[in-house]
Amino acid sequence: MQLKNDLLLRAARGEKVERTPVWLMRQAGRILPEYRAVRSNLSGFKELVETPERAAEVTIQPVDILGVDAAIIFSDILVIPEAMGLTYQMQEGKGPYFPKTIKSIKDVEKLKIVEPEEDLHYVLEALRITKKELSGRVPLIGFAGAPWTIFSYMIEGGGSKTFSKARKMLYNEPELSKILLDKITASTIAYLKAQIRAGADIIQVFDSWAGILGPDQYKEFSLDYISKICDAINDVPVTVFAKGAYNARKEISTLNCEVIGLDWNMGIAESKDIIGDTKTLQGNLDPCALYGSFSMIEKVTNEMLREFGPHRHIANLGHGVYPDTDPEKVKCFIEAVKNYQG
Ligand code: CP3
Repeated sequence: MQLKNDLLLRAARGEKVERTPVWLMRQAGRILPEYRAVRSNLSGFKELVETPERAAEVTIQPVDILGVDAAIIFSDILVIPEAMGLTYQMQEGKGPYFPKTIKSIKDVEKLKIVEPEEDLHYVLEALRITKKELSGRVPLIGFAGAPWTIFSYMIEGGGSKTFSKARKMLYNEPELSKILLDKITASTIAYLKAQIRAGADIIQVFDSWAGILGPDQYKEFSLDYISKICDAINDVPVTVFAKGAYNARKEISTLNCEVIGLDWNMGIAESKDIIGDTKTLQGNLDPCALYGSFSMIEKVTNEMLREFGPHRHIANLGHGVYPDTDPEKVKCFIEAVKNYQG
């Protein structure tokens, strides 16, 4: 189906756009009372993720309520470890928890390579329903975690300040680490291809814990695997968002991807210099800017747009929107992008 608003896809491919497209990471979620209402009728986050009709409903909410230029499928990066054999729990206010983690090569051998149509049928169904219900209003973003970020959760069993167990594994068991990263990569490629068949118009790879590795380890244990994913996805544009990967911006610019996400610590002019003009940049307002006054939000958004310039930019925050952000402030950001006169 022909998209009515394809600004995001054109910007991703480096084509001319009438204005900069805008969406927010984590736009489908707790910032919206309408999301909390749907969630309160279910047992929790996981049931929402695993119920395609409801997942589709909350995916579309920000399009209707906030006026964003894209929908991102409501799911989580942790469905991959789950489908490979490590189930997770989402603890209210605490985040994810894995009762079983990877400690030895035997644990790695037990993991399966994901067969998405079987193991992640619920996500694919949610994509198909969303695609139908959007009826071409805006593009639909599919996503997955980068292998390194998924690896970290599988070893740590949850979030961590230092990720010491995951980093320790790289030093003590580099072979095991690579076997595990290869398995995650194969699963992720199959999963992303299935998402595209189910209707995803663009793919984003989230490397949320990129920033905890030094440059050499980042290349060896993360970028090489992201690179395989980029090479395997050819039908739709790919966005790589590697949070905190300042050291790797040059290497990231050589990946076979169309869009590079910047976090709010990465200078815009400096990033443009390093990355060059063959990639579209996405980002990068500090999520905390949305705690500012309406006039402050307009001011910093305008400054951001001026610095990125009118082409090869997709406006977004530098990380997911914080759950206690006032939706009116989110709308102010979106309107500021839409009204910007460059
Ligand atoms: O709107 C969207 O962006 C789509 C949905 C989405 C979720 N998670 C829903 C979610 C996306 C793209 C993700 C990705 C994700 N999940 C990442 C990468 C992006 C990033 O933030 O760096 C990571 C690291 C995760 C893992 C994860 N999921 C954590 C650490 C948490 C707990 C922290 C929190 O925000 O509570 C989750 C839970 C989660 N995933 C929620 C949502 C809406 C909150 C759960 C709830 O409703 O209570």
